[in-house]
Amino acid sequence: MKIAIGSDHGGYELKEHIKGYLDENGIEYVDCGTDSTESVDYPEFGQKVAEAVKEGKCDKGIVCCGTGIGISIAANKVPGIRCALCSDCYSAKMSREHNNANVLAMGARVLGRDLAIEIVSTWLKTDFQGGRHERRVDKIEGIENKYALD
Ligand code: RB5
Repeated sequence: MKIAIGSDHGGYELKEHIKGYLDENGIEYVDCGTDSTESVDYPEFGQKVAEAVKEGKCDKGIVCCGTGIGISIAANKVPGIRCALCSDCYSAKMSREHNNANVLAMGARVLGRDLAIEIVSTWLKTDFQGGRHERRVDKIEGIENKYALD
């Protein structure tokens, strides 16, 4: 499994911390930036991670900003991306089982580091349940298709 990981300046330190966890667990990743706490614009990094997943360069993505809100909204603009903003392990688990989320968003100014790692660990080990949830996820794609430009 290969992860695309990215953040803005607000999420930079949490991104680096998560990279440490991925390293320790032998999980491959591509760092889509940012590279410091210097102020940047979160949509660029949400887009980079989302496109790496959309294009199949990575299997899943993780994005962080101050709240996780802006970068998750940006990631969700890429068709085929289901980015779940999670602040607890139950939501992280459900976002995989029911929503087949392919990008996880977290807020670095919202979560403690240890909880963030628990969320990442839960999210990465949980599989999509399929079944009735498949139909619902397909309907999300239907909405994307309705508004897709020719
Ligand atoms: C940056 O100050 C902050 O607005 C950003 O990290 C994020 O919280 C946006 O949603």
